[in-house]
Order: sequence, then structure tokens, then C-alpha cells
Amino acid sequence: MGMTSLSQAGLSNLWVILAAVTAICLVSQRVVRYIQSMERFSLGRMKCTDNLIERRYVRENGCVPPSTTLRQGFLGLGMLRDIQKANREHRVRAQFGEWFAKYGHTWGADTGGRLFIMTVEPKNIQSILALKFKDFELGTYRNKSFYPLLGYGIFSTDGSKWEHSRAMLRPNFARNQIADIEIYERHVAALIKQIPRDGSTVDLQELFFRMSKTIDSATEFLFGESVNSLENPTSGPEQSFSSNFNIAQDGLSHRFRLGPFRFLYRNKQFAPAVQNCRDYVDRFVQKAIQYRADVDSGKISPEEAKLNDLQYIFSYELSKHTINKTELTDQLLSILLAGRDTTASLLAITFWVLARRPDVWTTLRKEILTLDGRKPDFQELKNLTYLSWVLNEVLRLYPVVPVNSRMANKDTHLPVGGGPDGKDPIFVPKGNEVFYSVSTMHRRKDIYGDDAEEFRPERWEKLRPGWAYLPFNGGPRICIWAAVCADGSGVYGCACITGV
Ligand code: HEM
Repeated sequence: MGMTSLSQAGLSNLWVILAAVTAICLVSQRVVRYIQSMERFSLGRMKCTDNLIERRYVRENGCVPPSTTLRQGFLGLGMLRDIQKANREHRVRAQFGEWFAKYGHTWGADTGGRLFIMTVEPKNIQSILALKFKDFELGTYRNKSFYPLLGYGIFSTDGSKWEHSRAMLRPNFARNQIADIEIYERHVAALIKQIPRDGSTVDLQELFFRMSKTIDSATEFLFGESVNSLENPTSGPEQSFSSNFNIAQDGLSHRFRLGPFRFLYRNKQFAPAVQNCRDYVDRFVQKAIQYRADVDSGKISPEEAKLNDLQYIFSYELSKHTINKTELTDQLLSILLAGRDTTASLLAITFWVLARRPDVWTTLRKEILTLDGRKPDFQELKNLTYLSWVLNEVLRLYPVVPVNSRMANKDTHLPVGGGPDGKDPIFVPKGNEVFYSVSTMHRRKDIYGDDAEEFRPERWEKLRPGWAYLPFNGGPRICIWAAVCADGSGVYGCACITGV
């Protein structure tokens, strides 16, 4: 009797617990959906998968759902947890590789109500970036996550705001200016000075992040004054700008990964770091605005202005198009973000590979020696074929933007990925995101051969992978720098960028 009432009490307790857990799940799910719908509301329409218009669209375009739609863990938040963990352990590329090996070249996922498609199909990526460019945008998660630091700069806007930025910035990337090897010369010399002569180990990555086309030369190129972090590595406003920029940038990535939950991002250092970066750039923006006012009022003579034009300072050039302080700050910080880690990473990884591959080093050195110690000009850099193969191969195996995404701004579809064999078109409802992993696509054996995982520069002698090779992205939003350096192909852009 006693036992029965005890087990009955236990059972009823169990029911209460189960009911409470279910209620919590349902409420949390509603909260998630609510946050999601608020996000989508700003896109113009709340999402409703079984809406009639969508169903008609699916039918008319022969769309078929992907064979897998992943919903991992509590509320589907398992993927988010896995990617945060992979990020902490510096294995994001490997994590994406594992997912694609398990679920195929295109699949769907639901992370806490954030619906997206994952793909490594060149045809799909070409559609997103070029053929259906107008159907996709960076999207609300990215733009809102990046806003605190970059405002409405080129890296965090869509539509007419982006068009305006691109049109304004593009003329500043004239080939003669960015191919100015003199700027890099001084910073390379400062870097070489930092390398110990006694054969002891040195962290080149750290030096590259402070040097070439990164913080030192980028600030010189953009503001006309270098932060000279290689020469004064420990103190001063320049150094705090450099470290605050790192904190701010890290915060942007975290906020983007959290998507609709970015309000959960808590880092006391983030807001002050963002403020510090904007204040630091403000000084140069004021200088550029003053300079333009002086040119316009005749305080600076046309001859002097011409001389300054030859020196080429990005912020001064930009002030020809706008003297709006916020706009100038947004664009300058965006360019700094776009150009800094990308080039530093490329340099660091290239030397990481060279240190492990004496055969590649020897062949490369042989080619460089053909210059007889002369400084190469832009054309000569282009002619260093093996160098371009090496850089192509680095960017194939270790692309510096390994994963990217776009959000559909209308109901649309991609050409492949639907059905059990992944050959049917696939529906992308408005507000859904598509993530594409360039790093996984670059290692596909069916595209690059059985030795896809191997570092083999010679493969570039015959290889023309088209949309299967995208280190600089493609379509109208292709990297602005690569577009100029390489007339779109990206090959010579790397050589120019690295200043090797
Ligand atoms: C190895 C070097 C570089 C690589 C691999 C690289 C790669 C990329 C990629 C993948 C994107 C597309 C990002 C997206 O749409 O989400 C991009 C965009 C961009 N890059 Fe680069 N980049 C490099 C260097 C630079 C440099 C040095 C600058 C400028 C100083 C620069 C300026 C830009 C700008 C302004 C955009 C935005 C273009 C737009 O949205 O219209 N990049 N880059």
C-alpha cells in the first residue's frame, strides 16, 4: 500500500516534471519564433512555410526539399553550440568539412528557428552571387551584427546603400595606386628587422598581422599615417587601436553567429573597443575633411593638391566624394576590416606551408632569383607564374574567408541540391539564409581530384575551376581589391597583395 502510494506520488511528480519541461520547450520555441518573426518583419513579411504562394512557386519551379534537414539538440541549437566550440578550438574549417562529408553537398538546417541551406555546389554559389544576385543580400543578421563598428559601410549594407558605397570606393582602387610597391617596401624592411638572427623561433603570424597591407601599411594607405605597430609594439593610442580593432572584430563575428540571438552576446570590452576604434579614425576623418575644405577654398594651391594626389591617401581621395564624417568613418573602417586579416592570414599561411615544404620553397626561390635582386614592377609580378600557383594553392586549401552566407530577399530557388540525389532545384523562401563553405568546396575530390587535400602548386598549370574556386568571392560583390589587381581572376591579385 505504502509502496503503491509512493510510486503513485513518484508517477504524478514525473508527470508534473514532464509537463513543466514540455511547457518550457513550447514557450521557448514560441519566444524563438517571435524573435525570428520580428527579424523577418523588417524584411516585409512574416515567414509561413505552407503559404499558398510559396507552394505555387515550389510547384512551378520543380523544387524538391533537400534529403536532409538537420535539427540538432535542444530547440535545434546543437549546431550553434558545435560551431561556437569549433571556433574556440580553431577548427571551424574541419567542422564544416565533417558536416558536408556526413550530409552531402547541399542540405537544410534549423538552428533555433534560424532556417538555412548549406551548400558546396558551384552552380548554387554562382546563382547566389551572380545569376540571381538581386534575389540575395548580406541580410539583416550580418548587417545588424556588423553595424556598431561599420555603420552603413560597404561591408554591412545591401541594395542602393551598397551600390552607392561600391561606386564611391571603386575609383580609389586604381591599379597604379594599389600596385605601389614602395609603400610595402618600408614595412617589409621593418618586419625583417624583427626576425631574430640567432635561429630562434619567431611567430611570423604575429608580425604579419602588424605589417604588410595589414595594420601598418593599411593605416598608411588609408589615413596617410602608419600606426607603426612593428616599431612600437607595446604602447600608445596606435597600439590600443590595434588591439581594440581585434576585440571589435571578434565581437562582430560572434554576434553574426548568434543571428537572432545576438542580444545574448555579452562582452564588456566590446562597446568600449568599438568606441575607441571609431574615435581613433575620427582624427583622420577630420583631417581629410579639413584638407578638402582647404583645397576647395584655395588655401591649398592646386599644385600642392596635385602633389598630394600623387602621394595618394585613401581618406583624402574619398573626401572628394563625401565630407560626411560618419560616412567616411564607416567606409574607412570597412576597408580596414576587409583588407587587414585577409592579407595577414594569406601571408602567414603561405610561410607556414613554405616552412614545411622545402621542395616548394626551392622552386619558388629559383623563380624569384630570375629578378636578379631587382624590385619587380606590377607586370613582372604577374609573370612570376610559380608564385601565383603557390598563392592560388594556399587560397584553395586555406581560403581566408572559409564560409560565407547570403539571405534570400524574396522567394527564390537554387538549381541543385533537392531530392535524394541532390539534382533537383531547391526552394529558398524569403528570409532564409544560404551558407556556402568555400573551404569544403575547394577540397572536393570530384572537382580537384583524389589529391585534393594535397598542396600541389603545379596543378594550376592546367586547372580552370571557374565557380569551384572562390577565394575572393564572385559576381558584383567580388573583392574590390582582387577585381582591380586581377581583372577579376584573383590570380595576380594575391601576388600584388602580398607584396612578395
Ligand atoms: C588575400 C587577400 C584578400 C582576400 C582573400 C579577400 C577576400 C574577399 C572576399 C571573400 C570578399 C567577399 C566578402 C563578402 O561578400 O562577404 C571580399 C570583399 C571585399 N574586399 Fe577583399 N580580400 C582580400 C584583400 C582585400 C584588400 C587588401 C582590400 C582593400 C584594401 C579588400 C577590400 C574588399 C572590399 C571593400 C570588399 C567588399 C566588396 C563588396 O561588398 O562590394 N580586400 N574580399
